[in-house]
Amino acid sequence: MQVQPSGVIAVYPGSFDPITNGHLDLVDRASRLFDRLIVAILRNEAKKPLFSVEERLEMAREVLKPWTNVEVESFSGLLVDFARARGARVILRGIRAISDYEYELQMALMNRRLAPQIETVFLMAGEDYSFLSARLVKEVVALGGDVSGLVPALVHERLRRRLAAR
Ligand code: PNS
Repeated sequence: MQVQPSGVIAVYPGSFDPITNGHLDLVDRASRLFDRLIVAILRNEAKKPLFSVEERLEMAREVLKPWTNVEVESFSGLLVDFARARGARVILRGIRAISDYEYELQMALMNRRLAPQIETVFLMAGEDYSFLSARLVKEVVALGGDVSGLVPALVHERLRRRLAAR
């Protein structure tokens, strides 16, 4: 087997609107498997995000500081183009329940067609987070529910402020 001198770089793409403890759990697992991990936040205003890309970048960078081989960037256009430009050989995605599978399979196969040299690797979310999604977190906070333990404290505070202002 040929080992590349620079090690294996993985890209972990997503909306991260906002980053949750489920994402952190996946980053923690992946940071021990890959030499470098790039958390890549998609620039896509069509999804009507709650937080701007700059806010999401700032929050993610702050909460991911403890992981020294993890960086956070934003990207637009095709994910495989971004991954290629960063020298990444792996696209990382988390799988929570079987319901994630079909969407993830479609993306993985399309990405493989576009860039056969890049492998999509799935990691299972921790069982404490297998029901967790950024969408549900936003809904619960908007309705006054408690999501502590599901998002980092900084994100919880930002969510409360943003949703209270609405
Ligand atoms: O967190 P999400 O919203 O499920 O992430 C989806 C994401 C960002 C991984 C996906 O939409 C994506 O990769 N978009 C970039 C555009 C692209 O490459 N599309 C073709 C991939 S099938």
